[in-house]
Order: sequence, then C-alpha cells, then structure tokens
Amino acid sequence: MVNVENLERVIQKTRRVVEKSKEQLYQLGESARTEYERTKHELEAVKKEIAGIIKEVDDLEKAYAQARRHLMEVSRDFKRHSEEQIKRAYEEANKKQIELLSKREQEKLLRLHRDHLERNLKNLEATIKRSEELIANVGMVLKILSNDLDAISSQIGEMQQMQALGLSVIMAQEEERKRVAREIHDGPAQSLANIVMRAEFCLKLMEVNPAMLREELYSLMDLVRRSLQDVRKIIFDLRPMSLDDLGLVPALKRYVEQYINDHGIYVEIIVVGKEYELPSPLVVAIFRVIQESMTNIRKYARATEVLIKIEFLKNRINVVVRDNGCGFDVEKVMAEKSGSAFGLIGMRERIQLLKGKFEVKSSPGQGTEVILSVPTAPEENGLVGVRRGEHVTGGQKTN
Ligand SMILES: Nc1ncnc2c1ncn2[C@@H]1O[C@H](COP(=O)(O)OP(=O)(O)OP(=O)(O)O)[C@@H](O)[C@H]1O
Ligand SMILES: [Mg+2]
Repeated sequence: MVNVENLERVIQKTRRVVEKSKEQLYQLGESARTEYERTKHELEAVKKEIAGIIKEVDDLEKAYAQARRHLMEVSRDFKRHSEEQIKRAYEEANKKQIELLSKREQEKLLRLHRDHLERNLKNLEATIKRSEELIANVGMVLKILSNDLDAISSQIGEMQQMQALGLSVIMAQEEERKRVAREIHDGPAQSLANIVMRAEFCLKLMEVNPAMLREELYSLMDLVRRSLQDVRKIIFDLRPMSLDDLGLVPALKRYVEQYINDHGIYVEIIVVGKEYELPSPLVVAIFRVIQESMTNIRKYARATEVLIKIEFLKNRINVVVRDNGCGFDVEKVMAEKSGSAFGLIGMRERIQLLKGKFEVKSSPGQGTEVILSVPTAPEENGLVGVRRGEHVTGGQKTN
C-alpha cells in the first residue's frame, strides 16, 4: 500500500524546492537589473566626460594651431624677435602638442571604456529579459504543479479518509459479530442447554412421577417458544429478511410495530413520494441508521413520540428521525467517541461511504433529530455495478 504520509512529505518538499528556485531566479533578475542601472549611470557619466574631452581636444587643437602659427611668424621674422622669444614660442607650441596628444589619448581610452560599457549594458539587458522569461515559466510550472499537487493532496486526503473509513467499517463489523456471539451465548445457547437438561428431567419424570410430566412439558414448550423468539430477534437484527423481500418501508413498519409493542413509545412513519427499488447496501444502511436511532431513543431520550419521515426523491432519499426526548450535546458526544460501534459516528461513516449527508441536530431539553440524505444514482453513491435489490454484504447465510 502507498504510504500516503511519505508521499505528502515528498509533494511538500517538491513544492518548496520549486518555490525556492523561483525566488532565486527573481533575486538573480534583481541583481542584473541593479547592475544594469549602475552601468547605465556610469555610461552616461563617461559619455559626458567624453563630450567634455572632445571640447578640450578642440580647444587644444585650436591653441596648438595658434602656437604653431605664432612660432612660424617669429621664426620667419627672426630679426625683429629675440632668440629668447623664438625659443619660448617653440616651447609653447611643443607644450600644446604634448597636451593635445595626451588629451587625444585620454579620449581614445574613454571611448574604449564607453564601448565596453555599452556592450555590458546589452548583455545585462539580455540577462534581464531571459530571467524574466524564466520567472514567468517557473511561475507557470509552479501554478501547474500547485494545481496538480493540490489535486494529489486532496486525493491523498480522500485516500486517507477511505482507509480510516474502511478500518472503522471492519471494526464495526467485528464489534457486531462480538455482539451477536454474546447474544447467542447468553440467550439461545443457554436456553438450549437448559432444554436438554429439562428433557432429561422429563424422561426421569416419566418413570417416577408421570403426573408432573405434563406440567414440565408445558414449561419446556414455553422455554422453546421463548428461545425461538430470541433466535428470530437475533436473525432480524442481523438482517431483517423482510428488508430484501418487502423493501425498506414495509420492513420498517414491521420493525416499528414491534418497537411500539416492546417499549410503549408512539412512533409515526411518514412516507413522501413513491418507494422505488434501491440497491441492497443502501437499504441496509438506511435501515440500520433508523434502527440505531430508535435504539438510542429507547436507551437515552425518554421520549414519548417519534416521527420517522422518509422522502423518495428522483435521485435522492431523505430520512429524518425525530424524537421529543431530552436531547443531548451533539458536538461533545461526537468529539469524544470513536466510531468503533454502530453509534452516531458509525452511522455518519456508513452514510458518508455512500456519498450521503448525515447530521444530528439536538440540544439538551430540545429533542433530537437524525437527518440523512443519500444519492440513489449509482454514479453518485459509488454503487456502480450493484443491481437493485442485490446483496453485496455477504457472509450472512443463515441456512
Ligand atoms: N435520541 C437521543 N436522545 C438523547 N441522547 C442521545 C440520543 N441519541 C444519542 N444520544 C446520546 O449520544 C450518545 C452517543 O450515542 P451513540 O449511539 O453514538 O453511542 P451509544 O449509544 O452510547 O453506544 P453504541 O451505539 O455504540 O452502543 C449516547 O450515549 C447518548 O448520550
Ligand atoms: Mg447508540
């Protein structure tokens, strides 16, 4: 069997990893963007610097040209200029030339730097674009994954629920068997042992006191009759045969008749709509819930009146069992008991297994209402392939 807890852990881990990747991608994109902004600023500064230098080079070129002109003039007209003046003009021209050359060199370096920055900028732009695309992709992957994981998660949840349900159904069956075994042991089995003893006693009486025999046989017959009643009751509790032969409502009427006789509580049955044939598991589940509700009423409610309402709709069957008894705190009771027997929680589980709804409404002093609603279409209640009136519960051959 699949270990659902492990599976769930793996799923959660996967989700975390994917989410973390997205975060890292986002951070990568962010740092590329910061770098891009920084480079852009630097490029602007460099461009400004280049513009400045171009102007400086221009000015220097002019100054150099002028210095050369001046040098040419002084050297052409050297009679009117002292050697000193010529030398100064020469030095001036030389200085300007050096200045110019160095500025040009500076300009060249700056242009190289600018080109480099522009290339970087382009690369960064591409990186940003790529990271954005990747983030979008991962986002999509995450979305798809999340959806699927959610689906898987809820599937797992359902599986776990079914596992628990299956278990508690098995436990409930086991509980039921124990109860039946106890009932047979305490009732009919003991009576039969008793009957054998008394039959032996009758045999003896035949010889020693035939007059007493008649009386003893009567009481023996009475014992046999009571035992037979016990056995019938046990059989009826196991599976009311009328349920299969007659259907839900007639079987219920029979059960209620007996109930009124035994416990003196007034019970009314209201049927809305026309009863139609239902798959056996559904009929049994509904009958059991009503039966258990009636047992609870007899045991705890101190009620004088009970109303059982059964509503046959096109695709659903709704049932309400209402008593006018003492009521109880439903939440408290449901919270503290586990569904081991066919108590309220067991009822709820059986009805949920059939994809139905189950509810108990009660509060102290207000009476109690057990309400259930089960879909009758096989595609909805999971009883696909179970023919109407067919037995699937099995294991109850009493012949
Ligand atoms: N109709 C009712 N009126 C008053 N109290 C009720 C009624 N139905 C249930 N209860 C209360 O709810 C409790 C739980 O009922 P539930 O049928 O789940 O268990 P149980 O009858 O005690 O045990 P089990 O059904 O397993 O033999 C009962 O013990 C009782 O206190
Ligand atoms: Mg009960």
